[in-house]
Amino acid sequence: MNQEIDPILRLLRPESVAVIGASRHPEKIGYQVVKNLLESGFPRNKIYPINPRAKEILGLKVYPSILDVPEPVDLAVIVVPAQIVPRVLEEAGRKGVKAAAIITSGFKEIGNIEGERKLVEIAKKYGMRILGPNIVGICDTVKGVNASFCQALPNPGEIAFITQSGALGIALVGWTKIKGIGLSDLVSIGNKADINEVDLIEFFGRDPHTKVITAYLEGIEDGPRFLQVARSVSRKKPIIILKAGKAKRTLGAIKSHTGTLAGSDAAYDAAFKQTGVVRAPSFIALFDWATAFAKASLPRGEKVVILTNGGGAGIMATDAAEEWGVNLIDIPADLAKKLRRHMPPFGSVFNPVDLTGMADDDSYYGAMKDLLLDKNVDAIIVLYCHTAITDPVQIADAVLRAIQETGASKTVVASFIGGEEVLSACARLTENGVPCYESPEKAVAALGMLYSYVRMREKLDKRTMISVERDVEAAKRLLAQVMAEGRNVLTPSEAAELASYYGIPVLKRVLTHSPEEAVEAARRLGYPVVLEVESPDILHKSDVGGILIDIKSDEEVRDAYQRILDSVKARAPNARIKGIVVRRMAEKSREVIIGAHRDPIFGPLIMFGSGGILVELIRDVSFRVAPLSLEDAYDMVEETKAYKVLKGYRGEPPGDIESVIYTLLRVSQLMLDLEEVEDVDINPFFVYDKGKGGLAVDVKIVLRKPEEKSRQ
Ligand code: ACO
Repeated sequence: MNQEIDPILRLLRPESVAVIGASRHPEKIGYQVVKNLLESGFPRNKIYPINPRAKEILGLKVYPSILDVPEPVDLAVIVVPAQIVPRVLEEAGRKGVKAAAIITSGFKEIGNIEGERKLVEIAKKYGMRILGPNIVGICDTVKGVNASFCQALPNPGEIAFITQSGALGIALVGWTKIKGIGLSDLVSIGNKADINEVDLIEFFGRDPHTKVITAYLEGIEDGPRFLQVARSVSRKKPIIILKAGKAKRTLGAIKSHTGTLAGSDAAYDAAFKQTGVVRAPSFIALFDWATAFAKASLPRGEKVVILTNGGGAGIMATDAAEEWGVNLIDIPADLAKKLRRHMPPFGSVFNPVDLTGMADDDSYYGAMKDLLLDKNVDAIIVLYCHTAITDPVQIADAVLRAIQETGASKTVVASFIGGEEVLSACARLTENGVPCYESPEKAVAALGMLYSYVRMREKLDKRTMISVERDVEAAKRLLAQVMAEGRNVLTPSEAAELASYYGIPVLKRVLTHSPEEAVEAARRLGYPVVLEVESPDILHKSDVGGILIDIKSDEEVRDAYQRILDSVKARAPNARIKGIVVRRMAEKSREVIIGAHRDPIFGPLIMFGSGGILVELIRDVSFRVAPLSLEDAYDMVEETKAYKVLKGYRGEPPGDIESVIYTLLRVSQLMLDLEEVEDVDINPFFVYDKGKGGLAVDVKIVLRKPEEKSRQ
């Protein structure tokens, strides 16, 4: 045994396995694990059952303790009750075992945090890595290791599946078998006390037997490491994740729009987009797409043709193409002429190319050959509706023959629709590099995902980082003052000042303490002006009559000054009033929202969207995790409907998109520099016509509460 071997390799592809808690009773998990190891073909002389009460299990010699095993052990599978686990883990450590898979439940998932911490402590002491606890185990088809209580090994294949739910893992062994899906490994990660999804993504990223990495996850603990590893792995191979648990966490304490709009899921969405991870909405979609990645070649261009024998199937596929970002071409005249030869006169050479219900294997063969050889075609979606006059297997063979004979490495996906008759045809296509699905929509979605991955991957290589000029010292001084006063919400003037230290365009604000000072300020700034109360205790000024706009004369200023004071004193008698702020009335323009929220897993999450008072209702927002690249900022803007307005909607002139982009980058930098800042809301941010900049009209900044900070 080589001491330098990667512990994850020992875990998933061990040379020798000890089963601690191997049982004499077939109904127990400890018996089934030994039986599974034997049935998966693991060498008998490398399986070491451990049980102080037994002599022999399934014909294998049993050792009272792992310390009695005369040979080195790569992997210890632990199936003794929770209270015994620390003792046997300690023995495994002393034996020199470097990887342990702890099937036993009864740790963190039931509140036994201390018990779980102890396991990690023992593992660390011996330089051992542990998988679990609370797992079904490991199924590896590369080496043939079923160290689990799954009923059998899955079919061999090139898809690695990591699952946070053990039960789902077990269930999917059977399901993938009937679907003809092959896996390289199925790894249950349970409580993730030590080894987590990131370690496994990293491992499968360099595993030559795995082409696609898939995972069912309920959460990710180490956001920054996930971002780093996933970004590097997805350059080499696709990662598809089904992230469950979208429901919003309790939002009661969140004061900002950004925090409310982010919920708990936006950060995952953003992190996946920025790392090239494909997000699947269901396990069916996850395996549909994984099959496409495992079997088909990635498309080299965006020109797609649908070939069908049924008009309806073609129309469904066309609708789906729009939805999944699949670009259907107009068939060029010369290609149309060639295709005509393979269909009756009532066929269609538009896209979808409809060979009609008369089509036989020769028609498919001929049309496929023309499409594969045409330089205007990059990918083909082959649809077949089963008819009484055709044999689906012959059609599948005709498609495969055309691919083989032309030697074209174009992406081909298929959907064969029908009863039992089409199943073997479909399976034959999938096995031979043409992922085949039961519906046209599924085939199109799978192709759409191949495109989506290719596009995301291209973006990973283009990350332009812009350095933001800023005055961090001044910003930190300001925050220190606010915190020294025991506050966690900045006044509007403080928020604007902080934003200005990062070059965010804000209106000049003058704090005044008498009507005459206010008049003087208004004259200097130029009419019309806005007067608003400055108080650390008032978050929503308009609720207490604390703001008056469009003030046009000295007289109106004096009057407004008094009216604001009277109203605030009446409606918020305990609020501390620091004075009245005078600012120029901003010229109205396109309204957007720019914000940031500190996510507990991934860190600062930056938001852009349509602004105004209806932001939470409209929810036209996009998110990315900081640090934002220039490309991230553009993607964020382009993803929203607000972008249409900024580009110049219905004859309106285009807006100054650059001012938005640079404000996003500045907010990203602010969040990275100032860890105390929890939320930033700039709403509205006025976007003036192109070349004329933008303006942060209202800036709200909330800091982490002192107790939240100390908990970090
Ligand atoms: N070293 C080795 N073996 C020992 C030791 C020891 N120090 N002490 C006792 N054993 C033996 C026992 O004698 C027994 O063998 P026997 O049946 O031949 O007498 C064997 O180890 C197992 O011990 P039991 O006390 O019988 O424990 P049992 O098998 O009932 O339960 C188990 C152990 C399976 C680990 C249980 O505690 C558990 O955690 N079950 C849940 C597992 C699970 O669901 N995991 C999550 C999967 S994810 C999902 O949701 C599906």
